[in-house]
Amino acid sequence: MRRASQIVAEVLDELVAAVRPGITTDELDRIAESSTLKRGARPAFKGYKPGDVVYPKSLCVSINEEIVHGIPSSRKLKTGDIVGLDYGVVYQGFYGDAARTVPVGDVPEATMRLLRVTREALYAGIAQARVGNRIADISRAVQEVAEKAGYSVVTDFAGHGIGRRLHEDPQVPNYFRRGMPNPRLQEGMVLAIEPMVNEGTADLEILSDGWTAVTADGKLSAHFEHSIAITSNGPEILSERANV
Ligand code: MF3
Ligand code: CO
Repeated sequence: MRRASQIVAEVLDELVAAVRPGITTDELDRIAESSTLKRGARPAFKGYKPGDVVYPKSLCVSINEEIVHGIPSSRKLKTGDIVGLDYGVVYQGFYGDAARTVPVGDVPEATMRLLRVTREALYAGIAQARVGNRIADISRAVQEVAEKAGYSVVTDFAGHGIGRRLHEDPQVPNYFRRGMPNPRLQEGMVLAIEPMVNEGTADLEILSDGWTAVTADGKLSAHFEHSIAITSNGPEILSERANV
């Protein structure tokens, strides 16, 4: 799982380096796919079919008011956009999954703040991923960072366990509500923690492509994700690029 997540981190680094005004999201998809195959892994999302509609591409690219699961196309990135890059691979039967949101060229300081806070919410959640805590400790920490900054957390999607499948139990919600399943965290568990944070309402809609989730009010959304392992020494961020 370490190697699977490291491949995701390496591919995301390449994608972030390729982001510039004028590049199409299909070009990013092709970079992700070829870079993955070169490393002896395969894309995890392509062909994934949790419901009625199969996911057709390797990468999820979500621009501006798109929250998650944007499908690569001939659309070009432009200056002032923010772009969420969400990527997963399978390596020797094990999955890795991570996401980052980055600016395209210069964006307003208020937009940079949304990106910063969403990343901070992820790291606050990761800090709670310790033996003896429960899922809700992660959820609460994520929610608190986002809401204290004046933003909302998306409640219609959650993080998840990850391992020999992309989505395993337990679910890792980005908010807390009484009565939700709240298992204890155990050594050896691997979780994908993935806050989606909105400038405005948490309400969302799904576009007619069956995948793209957009904010109901058209305001911006950001998404950061890491695959992390719970060890006796605390959380290990598997999808953070190791120093090379
Ligand atoms: N990181 C996202 C998730 O865990 C990506 C899934 S895209 C899909 O839900 F196509 F595989 F669904
Ligand atoms: Co995920």
